[in-house]
Amino acid sequence: ASDMGEDLTKVLVDADQIDRRLDQIAAQIDRDYAGRDLLLVGVLKGAVVVMADLSRKLHSPVEIDWMAVSSYGSGTKSSGVVRILKDLDTDVHDRDVLIVEDIIDSGLTLSWLKDNLETRGASSVRIAALLRKPDAVKVEVEVAYVGFDIPNEFVVGYGLDYDERYRHLPFVGTLAPHVYSD
Ligand code: PRP
Ligand code: MN
Ligand code: MG
Repeated sequence: ASDMGEDLTKVLVDADQIDRRLDQIAAQIDRDYAGRDLLLVGVLKGAVVVMADLSRKLHSPVEIDWMAVSSYGSGTKSSGVVRILKDLDTDVHDRDVLIVEDIIDSGLTLSWLKDNLETRGASSVRIAALLRKPDAVKVEVEVAYVGFDIPNEFVVGYGLDYDERYRHLPFVGTLAPHVYSD
């Protein structure tokens, strides 16, 4: 375990910025779903931190469930083939569903997941993502709630990992190239 300070080149979004943005998004979700029962679906593992913080800011009655998905292979994210590793415990038929994600990068995971939940008969499926990269605009997926649009850099923290590390950082930082190039 090396010194984490040397692994990051900068803080991209700090903890206060995240907290304030999630306040705004939670207020918006409360308004949009007033009087309805919402099912929050978190995508393991990256969404764990944003789910914990965002859900605790909501006043709407919500349920929380989780899915784990995997893109086929490692270098094949662009294929768009997604495999379910852990399915929901909840039947989403006739439910209002809000998928909670840490980041939308290519958009392939979320466009597949949205289609998948709509096929099960959910009455609505929308997406909340803390971060969005510019590449995401290449794929047809509408994100109802976006925290921050960020540049195309390798970011970690606040749920996001590199090789399962850095998820616990309370901010989003840019990973130093030496970490992933050696
Ligand atoms: C990351 C991230 C999103 C997805 C975004 O998850 O948490 O779920 O990739 O990529 P996309 O928009 O190009 O599909 P990852 O597969 O690394 O799993 P993890 O959440 O367990 O880290
Ligand atoms: Mn993920
Ligand atoms: Mg990951």
